[in-house]
Amino acid sequence: MDGYFGEDVAARYDDPASQMFQAETVDRTAGVLAELAAGGRALEFAIGTGRIALPLAARGVDVQGIDLSRAMVAKMREKPGGDLPVAFGDFATTRVEGEFALVYLVFNTIMNLTTQDAQVDCFGNAAAHLAPGGAFVVEVMVPQLRLLPPGQTAVPFSVAPDRIAYDVYDLATQAMSSNYVEPAGDAHVFRSIPFRYAWPSELDLMARLAGMTLTDRWADWSKEPFTGESERHVSVWRRPV
Ligand SMILES: C[S@@+](CC[C@H](N)C(=O)[O-])C[C@H]1O[C@@H](n2cnc3c(N)ncnc32)[C@H](O)[C@@H]1O
Repeated sequence: MDGYFGEDVAARYDDPASQMFQAETVDRTAGVLAELAAGGRALEFAIGTGRIALPLAARGVDVQGIDLSRAMVAKMREKPGGDLPVAFGDFATTRVEGEFALVYLVFNTIMNLTTQDAQVDCFGNAAAHLAPGGAFVVEVMVPQLRLLPPGQTAVPFSVAPDRIAYDVYDLATQAMSSNYVEPAGDAHVFRSIPFRYAWPSELDLMARLAGMTLTDRWADWSKEPFTGESERHVSVWRRPV
């Protein structure tokens, strides 16, 4: 029911040591999103534990969310200001009432939709919630295929006694997975989360199918220019006014 974000993951999700939870990262992200909301309402696809939604709401933005995981949202409910409205369902298809100036989907979560159809539906669902001129913002990694030596399909990203972690890519289907081997008592547990990777240009096409146009693409929340060396992007597509 909670997908890949059940009680155990939710309990460990908010990790102050992780880059994504550093105050500077969170502040910068919330700052850019507040600017894009421009006084209007915001809807977070995959609101999770409120990592970004709560600081955004603290800036005076009216924020709502959609998420599949009751366990993740329960963690948000424990925090000050954590009673933001949340609809439970798939953000590719779930509708909430009203129009929004901003819909946003951060932390690679577009990739949790594992088919092209679902990702296309997600862009359509974002557009359907936006007021004219409204913005859909996605933060997602650039597929790290340049790290794959010929003939190999895995890219390790943590090689340490307390965690071995690696991504596996299937270049034929754009299927991908992140895999973790972690100690649990005297043994180890293996977890694998499936994703679908997409290039920025494919996302632009999905936006076009949904009637939106790219207005900005940055390498990060500092709005550094996106280049061929960028490892992720923050992209903004808008509905016509
Ligand atoms: C990596 S967390 C991101 C949470 C939050 N946006 C953040 O930046 O911290 C991914 C979240 O996406 C949710 N999720 C994954 N696939 C989903 C789907 N298809 N529909 C709704 N929520 C989904 C998970 O339940 C989880 O809360």
